[in-house]
Amino acid sequence: MGFPQVRPRRTRASDTWRRLVRETHLTPDALVYPLFVVPGRGVRRAVTSMPGIAQLSVDEAVKEARAAAAAGVPALLLFAAPDRKDARASDALDAHGLAATAIAAIKEACPQLLVWADVCLCGATDHGHCGHVTPTGTIDNDSSIETLAQVALNYARAGADAVAPSDMMDGRVAAIRAQLDARGHAHTPIVAYAAKYASAFYGPFREAAESAPAFGDRRSYQMDPANAREALREVRSDVEEGADLVMVKPAGPYLDIIRQVRDAVHVPVVAYQVSGEFSLIKAAAERGWIDERAAVLETLIGIRRAGADLIISYFAPQVAQWLRP
Ligand code: PBG
Repeated sequence: MGFPQVRPRRTRASDTWRRLVRETHLTPDALVYPLFVVPGRGVRRAVTSMPGIAQLSVDEAVKEARAAAAAGVPALLLFAAPDRKDARASDALDAHGLAATAIAAIKEACPQLLVWADVCLCGATDHGHCGHVTPTGTIDNDSSIETLAQVALNYARAGADAVAPSDMMDGRVAAIRAQLDARGHAHTPIVAYAAKYASAFYGPFREAAESAPAFGDRRSYQMDPANAREALREVRSDVEEGADLVMVKPAGPYLDIIRQVRDAVHVPVVAYQVSGEFSLIKAAAERGWIDERAAVLETLIGIRRAGADLIISYFAPQVAQWLRP
């Protein structure tokens, strides 16, 4: 049987029908909001390439966290851009460093809100790479994962509800898991940036997190955008090493990867709608070229439909407000 007996439009006739047959849903429960923390007090410095997003001192980050929680956002992803930058990433290892201080302050103010701490060296190193740099300028994997495990332990001790390694070194999930388990943090989950691509869409973030590499690029550790099978290999090895959630990043240009990862593993799949994806929509909306609300909701439902359980998005508090019944 075909047309005219078959008419798919019948169940699209009203809003109530569309609601009834909708396959994918977006709720604030699925959203994670990234925050950028900087030194100082009362600092709210606009990130020019990300309209509406600011670098925040710890006191301002606490206010932003309260507002996000009040809007219905269940979790934050925290990035720190300390002044102290050196080869060892000392600030990230310091119990009184910027990230650790921010984690503790937000947890004290909003105990129900989950704080995920991004674990990487790029914000705290003078060279801006995600791992240690050797004298010849390569990124040393095995010493980097030792440091990353110490950073993760520092953040877990500060009260982070999860640690999220974003460096793309081999074996870092196992190294972090071993360190956390050995030091009394066996219950802290790891959100692994499992399939993180070397993407042009991170540009605005690097302004916000002050983490642009001083030389070279990240292609010797982040993934080639052309590869899909390799993403499954990365995801499977992270799950074997103990990742509790896995991430695909960016989201919009990688919907096929999100779907394949969703079908391949049984842990929650997180997709990161990154800074460049945010800025594209903002820039077009500012010019009146696109309806911001409709475009944002369409990208997010598309990411959910592709298979993401959770979405990290700079639009999170705004979307939580839009979705309010
Ligand atoms: C750093 C990191 C990056 C992002 C998250 N963690 C940038 C990068 O790898 O260069 C990107 C986030 C975004 O663009 O919104 N390890």
